[in-house]
Amino acid sequence: MKVTEKRDNFTSKLGVVLAAAGSAVGLGNVWRFPTEVGNNGGAAFILIYLLCVIGVGVPVMMSEFLIGRHTHANTITAFSKLAPGKWWRIEGVAGVFVAFLILSYYTVISGWTLYYLVQSLRGGLLVSQDYSAYFTAFSSDPYIPIIYAAVFMLMTHWVIVRGVQSGIERFSKIMMPMLLLIIGILVVCSFGMPGAGTGLRFLLKPDFSKVTASVVLSAMGQAFFSLSLAMGCLCTYASYFTSDTKLVKTAFSVCSIDTFVAVLSGFIIFPAVFSVPNVNPDEGPGLVFVTLPNVFNIAFHNVPVLGYAFSGMFYLLLLLAALTSAMSLHESVTAYVIESMGIPRKKASAMVSCSCMALGVLCSLSFGVLSDVTVFGLTFFGLFDFCASKIIMPAGGLVICLFAGWYLDRKLVYNELTNGGTVPFRLFRLYVFLVRYVVPVAIALIFINELFG
Ligand code: TRP
Repeated sequence: MKVTEKRDNFTSKLGVVLAAAGSAVGLGNVWRFPTEVGNNGGAAFILIYLLCVIGVGVPVMMSEFLIGRHTHANTITAFSKLAPGKWWRIEGVAGVFVAFLILSYYTVISGWTLYYLVQSLRGGLLVSQDYSAYFTAFSSDPYIPIIYAAVFMLMTHWVIVRGVQSGIERFSKIMMPMLLLIIGILVVCSFGMPGAGTGLRFLLKPDFSKVTASVVLSAMGQAFFSLSLAMGCLCTYASYFTSDTKLVKTAFSVCSIDTFVAVLSGFIIFPAVFSVPNVNPDEGPGLVFVTLPNVFNIAFHNVPVLGYAFSGMFYLLLLLAALTSAMSLHESVTAYVIESMGIPRKKASAMVSCSCMALGVLCSLSFGVLSDVTVFGLTFFGLFDFCASKIIMPAGGLVICLFAGWYLDRKLVYNELTNGGTVPFRLFRLYVFLVRYVVPVAIALIFINELFG
């Protein structure tokens, strides 16, 4: 193990919570969550999602925190330190590899967001047009989406090069409050729209007849993605926590902020979507890039300036959310390159940014000129997403729980979660029960369903 650079730490409690919440709050909350709610029947899905966050998300997050903070190392080294010479290290390797894969396609979607933001502000978005054709023409273009993705990658790179304190912590402290403020403004605006009543009823009135096994499993998968679990991102961030950071409390705060933002995104999107006739909430991934611009265009037809402001703020929100998440994905890989290969941060982050962008180019082209190139019937984009979110992520969650619940010494776990016994944690036995039995069984079910269902 080579380590030449001194490790930074987060300097304040607020910095810790905002950076970890920044990792969690991302496209998953503003884009994927409302889409899943729309597809899976509204309020009943939200209730099940909440149960998954509390029963699965919080304990897995605490486990990642304790592994990272105990070892103060990147994810791969963390597992090697806790279980020298054992196979558990594979989890760290898979985590870093998948963070890299996710970052490559996350950058492409974030690039689309940046393009939509620029177009909203220039007034090019809200002109009556066929938004589906508009989106297809843009995303299949061989150059423009790549340029926007590259700009997004540069923004992420620019933060990561600055390191933990003056990069990640500083920018999370600026971007997260901005994000929360924008969400607040957009929720208020959305409540004033004509479809607010229908939208809210859809979100608040559960219809349990829609709940099936696959809805429960989608809720769990969504919780994993949204909370940034199982891929070592939070483990890496926790390695920069100091010995007085309260892990249990931080995990609860991060899960609460993430869930709050996801639900509020629903409160922004559904009232808007129901304000326009003949638009369905279950439009799939096109919700944000096809349905919403259409809704903004129709809803603000008479006052285009408000439309520009509303859509501009919405895409800015999505961009900020994506940026703080991309930072955590980038950092998990960069920390490994710095510490295991002894490469300075500047060079290590440049290597990660460039190689990830090269994969990103493949992902982006898979919507256009490379759409016919498939591996196992999937385009590059589909393949990366499938490997990451359907295979390696649930498997990673399973391994982390087995590691914390069965392999690690119970005293070590207790000491880490209670800062050496100084912070009371009355539910410790419940935590152990969850990570030993409940979470592994639950994840094994998702896994089997995703692969064979
Ligand atoms: N949680 C982020 C979102 O909601 C995405 C993300 C960041 C992520 N880091 C991760 C997902 C690690 C899985 C694993 O968009």
